[in-house]
Amino acid sequence: LLDRHNTQYSTKGGSMASGQLSREEALACVGCRHACHILLYADTEAQLFEEIPIRHIVLMQMRFDGLLGFPGGLVDPSEESLEEGLSRELWEELGFSLSVTVEDHVSSCHNPSSSSSHLITHFYSRRMEEKEIREVEKAAASTATDHGHEVMGMVRVPLYTLKGGGGGLPSFLSHSFIGNSRSQLEDALVRFGLVTPEELQTALTHAEQMRK
Ligand code: GTP
Ligand code: MN
Ligand code: MN
Ligand code: MN
Ligand code: MN
Ligand code: MN
Repeated sequence: LLDRHNTQYSTKGGSMASGQLSREEALACVGCRHACHILLYADTEAQLFEEIPIRHIVLMQMRFDGLLGFPGGLVDPSEESLEEGLSRELWEELGFSLSVTVEDHVSSCHNPSSSSSHLITHFYSRRMEEKEIREVEKAAASTATDHGHEVMGMVRVPLYTLKGGGGGLPSFLSHSFIGNSRSQLEDALVRFGLVTPEELQTALTHAEQMRK
């Protein structure tokens, strides 16, 4: 399916046409660049204002360019595996040692319409304990070498919607995101049962109104 001369994809393959491809298909692309990012999340009993359940801690980061995204970065598969590269990026950006494996892989996506048309983005996820997530946050704000440089800070994604409709997840989704990280977030929230499809849909509708 891959045209190895110019790294363009054939439009014949069903999965290719939609931009999704397997980890193996992605690695077979000669000339493509690869980026790996990860969603770290945990369950929590915490409540906002002792009233609204937080339900899950979901981590994203404020990048140097003012856009929201996930921790991770560029990986050259000729130098290290995708997972080794992602682990290295997490050490740089989070100051936390996490050994990512193939089992953590969620999806790989080629986005031909983006400006960097030969970039394949690989998405991973890892469920952690609340205690571990707090350690990640602590390290990211103190010992991480990229703190204050590539990464301005880690943020938690509000999963609730406040009364009136706008506050919480809708406001969060109305911010600007790097690449396809917003759709990675939306897909993962539903895929891992962190919000219901209905909750996401409602939040997206409000977010859309806010952006206008
Ligand atoms: P350097 O060390 O400065 O090279 O940055 P990096 O290796 O950490 O790379 P970065 O995290 O910026 O990711 C590389 C590219 O992947 C970016 O230029 C974006 O196009 C894209 N990207 C960044 N973050 C995300 C993300 O969370 N999701 C997706 N899908 N793409 C991202
Ligand atoms: Mn207060
Ligand atoms: Mn990086
Ligand atoms: Mn990097
Ligand atoms: Mn990065
Ligand atoms: Mn770097």
